[in-house]
Amino acid sequence: RRTPRFRMAVRSSAISVGPLLTKLKHDCATPLPVLRHMADAMAADMRSGLAIDGGSDLKMILSYVDSLPTGNEKGLFYALDLGGTNFRVLRVQLGGKEEGVIATESEQVSIPQDLMFGTSEELFNFIASGLGKFAQREGGKFSMQSGRKREIGFTFSFPVRQTSIDSGILIKWTKGFAVSGTAGRDVVACLNEAMERQGLEMQVSALVNDAVGTLAGARYWDDDVMVAVILGTGTNACYIERMDAIPKLQSHVSSSGRTIINTEWGAFSKGLPLTVFDRDMDAATINPGEQIFEKTISGMYLGEIVRRVLLKMAEEGALFGDSSPEKLSTPFVLRTPDVCAMQQDDSEDLKVVGSILHDLASVESNVSARKIVVEVCDTIVKRGGRLAGAGIVGILQKMEEDSKGLIFGKRTVVAMDGGLYEHYPQYRRYLQDAVTELLGSELSKNVVIEHTKDGSGIGAALLAAANSMYGHDL
Ligand code: GLC
Repeated sequence: RRTPRFRMAVRSSAISVGPLLTKLKHDCATPLPVLRHMADAMAADMRSGLAIDGGSDLKMILSYVDSLPTGNEKGLFYALDLGGTNFRVLRVQLGGKEEGVIATESEQVSIPQDLMFGTSEELFNFIASGLGKFAQREGGKFSMQSGRKREIGFTFSFPVRQTSIDSGILIKWTKGFAVSGTAGRDVVACLNEAMERQGLEMQVSALVNDAVGTLAGARYWDDDVMVAVILGTGTNACYIERMDAIPKLQSHVSSSGRTIINTEWGAFSKGLPLTVFDRDMDAATINPGEQIFEKTISGMYLGEIVRRVLLKMAEEGALFGDSSPEKLSTPFVLRTPDVCAMQQDDSEDLKVVGSILHDLASVESNVSARKIVVEVCDTIVKRGGRLAGAGIVGILQKMEEDSKGLIFGKRTVVAMDGGLYEHYPQYRRYLQDAVTELLGSELSKNVVIEHTKDGSGIGAALLAAANSMYGHDL
């Protein structure tokens, strides 16, 4: 009895979903001219952001990191990483040129959902207490001179107006955080106060963005690293800039003549191929109109875009036949890791796709519907990966224009980190394809896009060492 109905559902979904899929692919297309236009717009926005504060979507924030790790860093340092749904603590024993990184130990704590919407004091108390518990378990290979305070490199992955290497004011929260009372405050003071409340004898010596930490960490191993990109819950990029190419800079000068600029490229918005699904999602977020590039290419949002497309296809095109798509109307039920898992399904009848749809959205699907679902995932992920690639080329292009040959004429490394980049092979491939298409096969041979796992933790610890209150020679 079931067979005829099943067949009908297949036929009706295939017929009515077709035009929706065609339109989606058309609206998300990223042919070379679109990528080129985006890369040019990124380079132009970088220049306007460097010219004056507020000059463009890109904040082009000074990191106050003027000297990169040398390898001479020595001693025991901590890093604290707050940037997404987890925070991480890390300790690292640095042994200078001879011994390098002697030992590391780390722990990850997930941040309870309610703290993301609570008060600043609650959030920082929670972090300080996690850090305190971790610090108490120090032992074994870790040691430091007695009488010294433990120093922390604090990776805080939100837009911060840095006022020095160890202070900075939160401009606004991103990535779904809506903690009250932090925006406009020095986040290092927030953490220091929480540590005092807990009686912790520790101090922040460097405040860094995760992209900046990744660049510093990657540079410790490889002198050719010039750019770092985060593709995780959110997205960002930073790069090494010449001081004399920063017109908005007035007083701050560095002895090296160079500094790291945190672009905050998640706020970029020009020339992106956006759809009605992107616009509707943006309108429903807690920061509408902001972080548009981030909402198009990063891990927090890809699953949600796919969910919105599938819901529309189910409601208007009977994608899942008679199966009610009710559960699919819950925002964020489909997460990017689910989208990724569905795209890895190589079974003939797309079993994994079927069971993910069943578990998360309580819908039954036949093979042709599952194929369409995978095509939707691929369309959104392809657009994300290719646009990320175009963003990277935009940065390299700006650096090359200023330095004539110093970027494309030699090996240049782009250090990548973040869960999306790390765990999504198709995304990585699309990103690399776009870079190769834009630069051509000759130039792109010199551009090495490389995963730096957990660079930002070690990077922050290295920067804490470089800015240690006890000086460099430990
Ligand atoms: C968001 C933050 C940015 C961070 C990025 C990646 O875009 O604003 O500071 O680097 O996410 O975590």
